[in-house]
Amino acid sequence: MITDRVKELLQEIEGSLVENKEQLEAFRLKYISKKGAVTELFDGLKNIPQEDRRAVGQELNTLKNLAQSRFQEFSTILENSADVNEGNQIDLTLPVAPNLQGSIHPLTIVRRRIIEIFERMGFNVSYGPEIESDWYNFGALNFADNHPAREMQDTFFISKSEEAVKDDVLLRTHTSNVQIRLMERQKPPIRSIMPGRVFRNEAISARAHCVFHQVEGLYVDRNVSFRDLKDTLYHFAKEMFDKDSRIRLRPSYFPFTEPSAEIDVSCFICKGKGCNICKHTGWVEIAGSGMVDPNVLTNAGIDSEEFTGFAFGMGIERITMLRYGISDLRLFTENDVRFLRQFEGA
Ligand code: PHE
Repeated sequence: MITDRVKELLQEIEGSLVENKEQLEAFRLKYISKKGAVTELFDGLKNIPQEDRRAVGQELNTLKNLAQSRFQEFSTILENSADVNEGNQIDLTLPVAPNLQGSIHPLTIVRRRIIEIFERMGFNVSYGPEIESDWYNFGALNFADNHPAREMQDTFFISKSEEAVKDDVLLRTHTSNVQIRLMERQKPPIRSIMPGRVFRNEAISARAHCVFHQVEGLYVDRNVSFRDLKDTLYHFAKEMFDKDSRIRLRPSYFPFTEPSAEIDVSCFICKGKGCNICKHTGWVEIAGSGMVDPNVLTNAGIDSEEFTGFAFGMGIERITMLRYGISDLRLFTENDVRFLRQFEGA
């Protein structure tokens, strides 16, 4: 009887197990393929008496559906366990892969620290563009048209203007461009620090890089004096390096400040006795500074009869190297985790 055969097959399929690709293929051939048992039964349908054909046909359909859904099930299970069959079993007893956590980059730590110290003295933070015109980077800062800093070997020019040097487009060589932009848009009192990236056409070495970071400072108001500059940077040195730090000012020259001074801090490693960091002088240089040149105030639309100001600029890399005793500038950009990890929790 055909219905007995159907029952038999239903039970067989229900109880069958497939454990690998070969068995899956055997299952397919046996039940589903054109020459399989189910097709064979469908072929026999024509010999069934007319009145029973409908009922038997339904039974056959149930059988066919079962065979097909079991086949699907088996293939899915086999697919999902493919890795296991290829020997890549997951060993649940292994310790979990450590979740490597990043740490804050030393330059970021120091930049934040600098900002924090000046914020407590009433400075706010300002930013300006890295792609700048010659006017903001040089002209407005009182650089003469033929000043050597404008030369190709220092500055990355993006475009040279046919009309006027001041329209040349370049990558800023210092953060002093932000001084001008700030004074143009804000009336004194101005007390701001301006961190940012700067660019100079230098060969990369332990002591020089073509991309580095500065923090600019600017204070403009009535009666701002050289003494304010000195006090501000003295306080900064004590907060940043060592509470017993001393500072010293050496005469210097910048086109945009007059008078100008280089700021040195007493070596906080050897306390002034002399070591490698301070090259046995007891002092390390941390910033350029000076009183804002009246021409610069005028260029930025501020009355230089009424207002005076001081400005300073320091290299974040330099301060970081001093603070942590790092001797090669390239370490900051190489992303070697053995270096970076040393600043975890710093
Ligand atoms: N811009 C100068 C430099 O890059 C530093 C500086 C800033 C000096 C402000 C004086 C005042 O070297």
